[in-house]
Amino acid sequence: MEILSLIEAKKQGKALTREQIRYFAKGAADNSIPDYQLAALLMAIRLKGMDARETADLTMEMAASGHMLSPDVGGVPVDKHSTGGVGDTTTLILAPLVAACGGKVLKMSGRGLGHTGGTVDKMESIAGMKVELPEDEFVDIVRRTGCAVVGQSAHLAPADKTLYALRDVTGTVDSIPLIASSILSKKFAAGAHAIVLDVKCGTGALMPTLDSAIELAKTMADIGAHAGRRIIAVVSGMDEPLGSHVGNALEVKEAIDVLAGRTSGPLKDVALYLGSQMLVAAGVQPDEKAALTALEEALNSGRGLEKLKEMIIAQGGDGRVCDDTGLLPAAPVIRKVSAPCDGYLEKVDGVALGLAAQQMGAGRIRKGDAIDPAVGFVMEIRMGDHVQAGDPICTLHARTEESALQAEARILNALTFSPAPTAPARLLHALVTAQGVEHL
Ligand code: URA
Ligand code: CA
Repeated sequence: MEILSLIEAKKQGKALTREQIRYFAKGAADNSIPDYQLAALLMAIRLKGMDARETADLTMEMAASGHMLSPDVGGVPVDKHSTGGVGDTTTLILAPLVAACGGKVLKMSGRGLGHTGGTVDKMESIAGMKVELPEDEFVDIVRRTGCAVVGQSAHLAPADKTLYALRDVTGTVDSIPLIASSILSKKFAAGAHAIVLDVKCGTGALMPTLDSAIELAKTMADIGAHAGRRIIAVVSGMDEPLGSHVGNALEVKEAIDVLAGRTSGPLKDVALYLGSQMLVAAGVQPDEKAALTALEEALNSGRGLEKLKEMIIAQGGDGRVCDDTGLLPAAPVIRKVSAPCDGYLEKVDGVALGLAAQQMGAGRIRKGDAIDPAVGFVMEIRMGDHVQAGDPICTLHARTEESALQAEARILNALTFSPAPTAPARLLHALVTAQGVEHL
């Protein structure tokens, strides 16, 4: 086969065959096709698109470009993936809750990227927690406790590794078939058979508009239908941080508070909704209503929190944080931010808030930077809330006074107040399966 014939075919808008797509994925994984030709084909795909069959073929061939796990976890391995949010700790809530309801959650997570936090970084704020575990160990933990949250291993889907790096520097990230196949190839290679996707839409999300988020969700659900895997996609809003806590240890604390029944609100609601879809996708519960009832029972009885503790201990961590969140790393400088004026919170720049936390040390500025687990902030108001000038609106947890001052300026800049009443943010927009789109 000849790479030029693939580039020519796609340039003219023709569909590529499974064999051609296999050649492309293999050539990306083993470096037998030079980057300039891969990049030319990526641009042709970005401009001419791919149909559902091609997109599914690309996903499966990228997954098969390296080692594929088929873990025996004693049930259907179910995973959840979010396209990236701020203050989004749903994984740490729903992995133990779904496990407490009989699901087998094998969750491979990423590290923080830009303004978004990463579950693996959050977990590492718990003393002793190991997230880089050999395959047989994490599979054994899922078999015994029902859940494990580990880092995405670098050798899965090597074609994606090459193609993602090239897309980043060739203006070809924003292609729905390329995004969908990139995300799902890694999930398929990690052995997930039931997958719930949380596709975020809003300012700063991968998909800024509702229509584009629904299109990505539908593309991924259709890949599942082609590949024989159960995929349910939820389109949710990301117009402000989901929880009130932003920062690694702070987000772990908030997850524990939700599981302990001390905190409710959007983070809990979205976690329960995504968890219910996981139980349905895995075939553990027949429908959303039965699944929600089971999850609420696990939460209210404390079995969810107990399960989180079991998982933390199984992964080498200090499980006592579940009983005493005071054991989590704490920042030395605590400072309140006050409302600059009377009014209603109208708009929140989620990206700017994420970047404020990153600048405080909660995220990496450069690849390989160490992160500070203790720092971040807690928002005390949400969109639609009314404040008076001087009211506390946020609590900063900073390493130094200087860092607190900088964060305060960034956070105030990210908030827009209005004299007239404003609406709270929409949380759940749509439920998307291969069968169709249900607006929520
Ligand atoms: N996340 C991925 O893994 N791949 C993409 O292409 C976009 C987001
Ligand atoms: Ca190369």
